[in-house]
Amino acid sequence: MSAQSRPPELDAALEANAARLGAFGRAVVYFDEVGSTNDVAASLAAAGAAEGTTVVAGAQTHGRGRRGHVWFSPPGAGIYASVVLRPAAPAAPLVTLTGGVAVAEAIRGATGLPVELKWPNDVVVGRPWRKLGGLLAEASTTPDGLEWVVMGIGVNVRAAACPPALAARATAIELELDRPVDWASLLVEILATLRVRYGELAAGEAARVLARWRTLAPGCEGRLVECETAAGPLRGVAAGIDDQGALCVRVGASLHRVVAGDVRWL
Ligand code: BTN
Repeated sequence: MSAQSRPPELDAALEANAARLGAFGRAVVYFDEVGSTNDVAASLAAAGAAEGTTVVAGAQTHGRGRRGHVWFSPPGAGIYASVVLRPAAPAAPLVTLTGGVAVAEAIRGATGLPVELKWPNDVVVGRPWRKLGGLLAEASTTPDGLEWVVMGIGVNVRAAACPPALAARATAIELELDRPVDWASLLVEILATLRVRYGELAAGEAARVLARWRTLAPGCEGRLVECETAAGPLRGVAAGIDDQGALCVRVGASLHRVVAGDVRWL
């Protein structure tokens, strides 16, 4: 499959921000439609693509969300992008949280919409929360360790990105703001912010990234939650994330760490 030429608005935004983007703007390939940008980026990563290589699509026929969910990806309604990362081992566990910070900061900065993060990496707005974005990190490891991570980023920009069945829990940036938003500028802002935050993580400044995550996720402390864990459902009070990015849940006198799974906020 060969890439198509990039839409002019994406070209313009990339060119205007080339200095801020560095390696995250150097190899941005575009397709009108793919199955999943994560799959295309994974093939490129396996073939040796450099860190920062980004696959963008106008639509996905098989967009994937976390835990086997479908990511509804109709044409022209959202940002569907996947970035190749090659983190060193110590940084790897926090890569997805770092991506969430970058996406939330970029949406706030570019549009003014006060989005928040919901563990582990949902981008949400309002009370009760409605989701408008998410991240799906997929990695390849060999006996020698981590080879690459593909960070898939989905953001609902237009209302069409919310299928009626999900309308009660999903939203889109333009729906919230009641005005049009330039998707290409927003995508470029996401990539530029990812470069900064991922750079901090890679430079050993995980504490700074975690502090940003905690600020952007005020709902992650003090709320009653129910988590699906391997040992069964766990109901307790969320107590923020620890330094490895796990969600801490207080049940009576004991503190549990949830490292993966679905969390329902009650
Ligand atoms: C989630 O919140 O469940 C994660 C959603 C991730 C969706 C993005 S869209 C671009 C990339 N390609 C995919 O198939 N999924 C991710």
